[in-house]
Amino acid sequence: MIFDRIVRSRRDLFLLFAACGVAGLGAGSWPATVLAQAAGGSPLKIGMIGAGREGGALGTLFVKAGHPVMFSSRHPEDLKGLVEGLGPLAHAGTVAEAVEFADVVMIVVPYTAMEQIGKEYGNALAKKALVIDVSNPVARRDGDDIVKWVEQQGGAGLATAKLLPGARIVRAFNAISYAKLAGDAHRQGELVAVPIAGDDPSAVAAASSLIREIGFEPVVVGGLAMGKYLVPGTPLGGEHTAAEIRQLVASLH
Ligand SMILES: NC(=O)c1ccc[n+]([C@@H]2O[C@H](COP(=O)([O-])OP(=O)(O)OC[C@H]3O[C@@H](n4cnc5c(N)ncnc54)[C@H](OP(=O)(O)O)[C@@H]3O)[C@@H](O)[C@H]2O)c1
Repeated sequence: MIFDRIVRSRRDLFLLFAACGVAGLGAGSWPATVLAQAAGGSPLKIGMIGAGREGGALGTLFVKAGHPVMFSSRHPEDLKGLVEGLGPLAHAGTVAEAVEFADVVMIVVPYTAMEQIGKEYGNALAKKALVIDVSNPVARRDGDDIVKWVEQQGGAGLATAKLLPGARIVRAFNAISYAKLAGDAHRQGELVAVPIAGDDPSAVAAASSLIREIGFEPVVVGGLAMGKYLVPGTPLGGEHTAAEIRQLVASLH
């Protein structure tokens, strides 16, 4: 995969940053600035929409990697224990505050919430350099209708793109259990790989860099149309090495 090949190292990320300049996304543009920060290893402000089991575990890994994180809830007072335990880089706020705070937003909510999030925060999310979508449509939780609607859109990647028009979306971490994240991060030997899908090269590059920082190996499996495989219950679900994911992806075509 082309993106996968071009963002294997920080140096590659700088080259992509330079390429963004050529493409008119250079100096001063928001995605290019965030890409440069990611390339230089500078902290990025991460806003978590959804700080439950999966969002809480992922946000914790980003705090441990040195990034300021705002965990959000419709009841931010409930997040006091989580953020106090994580130290000064962790903050709690409303969803609106997390969106305002963030360079990069992670959406980790039941899929039923995605439409409302798009309506309320879609304009702001379209201005972010990267929106990582971890959310899955799950029939037993979200209902059959939403699962059917997502299928009609061509899968979760394209469905999220429809609900968040203009956002630079990358799907990631969709089928790695919250209970495994802390133990899998920085695994000894071969890293656990995270299949990712996105249409925007700068967003894919920034996501890849962030995923490496928290101790996983990103593997770009394609554009958002491949998001249909980035849900639990497909061959790409669960924990695999990068080589296994590449082999599985080849078998899907
Ligand atoms: N659990 C896993 O192992 C896992 C793994 C991969 C992917 N996922 C996916 O990640 C998503 C979250 O799963 P989870 O297990 O973390 O769920 P969870 O523990 O129930 O947490 C859900 C979070 O979503 C927030 N939320 C719900 N509706 C919202 C809305 N309308 N606006 C803003 N925030 C809202 C909740 O915040 P409030 O405090 O405001 O209620 C809560 O923080 C799901 O789509 C799931 O399929 C889960």
